Amino acid sequence: MRRTRTQVGIVGAGPAGLVLGHLLAREGIDAVILEAKSRAYVEQRQRAGVLEHDVVRLLRDVGLGKRLDAIGMIHDGIHLQFAGERHRLDFRALCGRSVTVYAQTDIVKDVVADRLVRALPLELEVEDVALHDVASAAPHISYRSADGEACELACDVIAGCDGFHGPSRAQIPSALQKTWERAYPYAWLGILADVAPSTDELIYAHHPDGFALHSMRSPRVSRLYLQVAEDESLDAWPDARVWDALDTRFALPGWRLERGPVREKGITAMRSFVSAPMRYGRLFLAGDAAHIVPPTGAKGLNLAIADVVLLAQALVALLRNGDESLVDRYSETCLSRVWACTQFSTWMTSMLHTAPGKDGFGAELQLAQLRQVVSSKAAATALAERYTGIPLPRV
Ligand code: FAD
Ligand code: DHB
Repeated sequence: MRRTRTQVGIVGAGPAGLVLGHLLAREGIDAVILEAKSRAYVEQRQRAGVLEHDVVRLLRDVGLGKRLDAIGMIHDGIHLQFAGERHRLDFRALCGRSVTVYAQTDIVKDVVADRLVRALPLELEVEDVALHDVASAAPHISYRSADGEACELACDVIAGCDGFHGPSRAQIPSALQKTWERAYPYAWLGILADVAPSTDELIYAHHPDGFALHSMRSPRVSRLYLQVAEDESLDAWPDARVWDALDTRFALPGWRLERGPVREKGITAMRSFVSAPMRYGRLFLAGDAAHIVPPTGAKGLNLAIADVVLLAQALVALLRNGDESLVDRYSETCLSRVWACTQFSTWMTSMLHTAPGKDGFGAELQLAQLRQVVSSKAAATALAERYTGIPLPRV
């Protein structure tokens, strides 16, 4: 048995765990990150791509801005398309803020590279991770290392950054835990294609056949999503069918969707989920381990980073000065932002997707809502403020 000790044991090397480790290292707090998957896997896993205004500022402020500034694409607005027309929402004019298109995979690569250069502990391909005594002052994590050795990591606190399916959340006794969940009767089929984006800014399209989103990863790589049935099989969607459906949903006179080789294709289920509290004793949950939003508002990754900004500040106060005030407020502070983003993501989802079956009344309400967003400055500003993100504290 290999026994080691650290101040903060972090389970999971997604954006939440990695950025938390990075913020703590800057403050001189030791952390060990334990991750079940390989480096190649965590660096390739295709997920989110839009960063809020303050998340970009934060990443820059903590030394993670080099590649972000070199290849991130600043977008001052989005296009909303419905009823055969495309409308631009100008975020900069509406609220003075922008977003940046920069892939989650790139943030993961940046932090992993920085961690390895500075020889900060990151154990990949670990197995059998289990959390122990999290309600006590001496919690620990047991696991098996990549080379099969049984290990025990003693910690002052544990950060559960292990995503929706990780083991951390289950440590909170069910009598103390409350969860809220909503399923949606559709899913997203996403493709990554080697073709220049056919648009300067993201297009969110509402169409009777279903929602479609044109995003991008670089000037040469497009990321596109289509609403499909919740139980849809990828086999039913050969590339030509995907492009044909995208053509239909984005159709606009004088505009053309360029096609290219599809490098990756996947289906993502959609759900809302919130679990409270986000703290139990010496265990703190962050990111998808505590909450999931439907992807329509591009909030999942941004929320994960917001959580760990607050968590890092709270843990520094606790571990450096024995000050419990911020850890005591951690759950409540995070959950207020989580519910605001859940509300926004749910609203965007219900405004833009087409409900299965015939719901003519609902469809007219969606169009009325979309018309209000593109014609009322107040409504457009409300969307712009939420999309570009609630302000984050400075680090
Ligand atoms: P994760 O990224 O899930 O990281 C958790 C980490 O913990 C993983 O690396 C996992 O391997 C590790 N782990 C799990 N169990 C264990 C264990 N037992 N031991 C050790 N390690 C463990 N958001 C958007 O805004 N837009 C999108 O388009 C979008 N697409 C998505 C597509 C998919 C398929 C998914 C699942 C999510 C998507 N999201 C999207 C949401 C966004 O990517 C997440 O909100 C974000 O990844 C949350 O980061 P996280 O670090 O909390 O969790
Ligand atoms: C992307 C994903 C989203 O959910 C979204 O709302 C915007 C962009 C993306 O993957 O690029």
